[in-house]
Amino acid sequence: MAKYDNSFTDELRQRLSLVDVISRRVPLTKKGQNYWGCCPFHNEKTPSFSVSEEKGFYHCFGCGEHGDIISFTMKSENVDFKTAITELAEMAGLKLPEIKQKSQQQIEQEKTYIDITEQAAKIYQDLLYSESGREALEYIKKRGFSDEMIKKYRLGYAPKNNIISSKFSNIKIDKLTATGLVRIGEYGPYDFFRHKLMFPIFNAHGQIVAFSGRSLDGSEPKYINTSDTELFHKRQTIFGFNFARDFIHRQNRSIIVEGQIDAIQMQVHGFPETVAPLGTALTEDHIAILCKSNRNITFCFDGDNAGQKAAMRACLLVLPFLRDNSDVKFAFVSGGKDPDEILKNHGTSAMQKIIDDAVPLIDFLWQSVNKNYLTQTPSGRTQAEKFLKESISKIKDKIFQNEIEQEYNQRKFNQWHKWSRKTNTINIEVPNIVDMSTKILKSIVQTYPELSEKYIEFLSSLNISFDEDVEKTDLSLTDAENYIKKLSLKKMLEKLNNERIKFLSDIKNESENEENKNKLKMINDKIQEITNKLKLFNE
Ligand code: UTP
Ligand code: MN
Repeated sequence: MAKYDNSFTDELRQRLSLVDVISRRVPLTKKGQNYWGCCPFHNEKTPSFSVSEEKGFYHCFGCGEHGDIISFTMKSENVDFKTAITELAEMAGLKLPEIKQKSQQQIEQEKTYIDITEQAAKIYQDLLYSESGREALEYIKKRGFSDEMIKKYRLGYAPKNNIISSKFSNIKIDKLTATGLVRIGEYGPYDFFRHKLMFPIFNAHGQIVAFSGRSLDGSEPKYINTSDTELFHKRQTIFGFNFARDFIHRQNRSIIVEGQIDAIQMQVHGFPETVAPLGTALTEDHIAILCKSNRNITFCFDGDNAGQKAAMRACLLVLPFLRDNSDVKFAFVSGGKDPDEILKNHGTSAMQKIIDDAVPLIDFLWQSVNKNYLTQTPSGRTQAEKFLKESISKIKDKIFQNEIEQEYNQRKFNQWHKWSRKTNTINIEVPNIVDMSTKILKSIVQTYPELSEKYIEFLSSLNISFDEDVEKTDLSLTDAENYIKKLSLKKMLEKLNNERIKFLSDIKNESENEENKNKLKMINDKIQEITNKLKLFNE
């Protein structure tokens, strides 16, 4: 029988969650590590059908039915292998490959490829401890790598000259270029990696399929990676996964950091469940692979602005996979640039604290929305609501989606609307704005939301609630804006006058010194300036 090659069925198993697929037909609930439901293959009222996401198998303790994602689809829908595969491929968004046996030639080719990358790694490893690699070795030692770590992660040094293209001269050039290690230029073949600290990239079986090279002389880019090849797909490869997989199962959690040095330092300093995406961009494939192993993911991002942005990106990517509120968390590094620095300068316990302080995705999303939108204004809230709604709609698990929606509704009510109530009560300095002006202002804010954003600082300092529905204003946009400007000038004037009175009474007993005179002059000048501006409005 024609056969899909194993790599395709493996990819299906990798891309799709068994629990997701089974949940479409059988309601499941999580108990301990596994999910349970009533067996679809025999009649029962109490659940004895267990599903292990981690192992990728289901088992019924009642009737003994047992299998994986493909056999489940075949049996539950009564379809053949090919139909099941087609359906699953569609679900996973994968194109069905041509049915063909892996040709002998293909198998040979893959073998040669792995042979070359393996030998190259050995050459790089040796060079790191040779004279030409001295600078690289000194560098990586300074970064806190022991000989043992260098050996385990098989770090190496790619020299300044073309070592691979010359040492492998007995191998056909197209085989060399297929590994991405050698390229062909105007003057013939040359090495892609030169004068780099080399980090091998392993596939899940621990074979080296690519490399990441770090520049040693401060040249940009800081890291270059093997371009995609037959055996290496950057979007689907996770750095450190081959070392971390068992621990991810054991610790019942994975940690994702931004950089590969961070991942290695985390793995050796008490967080063996840590991995990093390759290159800076996290992809849906990365998340699908991790979710398959374990859904308790803690993202650990750098504490800078870029880290916040990356976190939001990750958040949106992971939403479809969410199943309960403790699944995915976000930790932010503070007190250093990245996990590597934290571990080096403050140790494992400081890092542990950062991980422990991680916030669940739902809270992270809520906090970000409140940071990014002006939820004090009606228009800000509208935008925020739209964003939240769109985000929540990505969650595939409908029950959970519904729950989150309710949770957010409650938060909106308690926090956004409480904001107006709360600020009503902390009137530190209520400007003398008569009821009439308040009403006009409210109408303006409702009619011209753009103005409410432009003058947010002033408007929120008034401590009045803009929530209630009022009639729209008859004022034109210009008049409305002038109205706000005038009010804000009046308020400023009032504040300055109060300041002046207070200042005069404070210095009453002091002799007239230079400093006080200057300060008073400054206040007087400012009062004059604003009075003049106000006059312009009245003309
Ligand atoms: P960072 O710039 O945060 O690097 O990029 P880092 O890990 O702290 O690097 P060190 O500690 O200075 O050595 C994070 C990750 O982004 C990818 C790399 O995978 C890096 O580990 N990256 C960064 C690139 O692929 N290319 C670049 O030019 C920079
Ligand atoms: Mn770093």
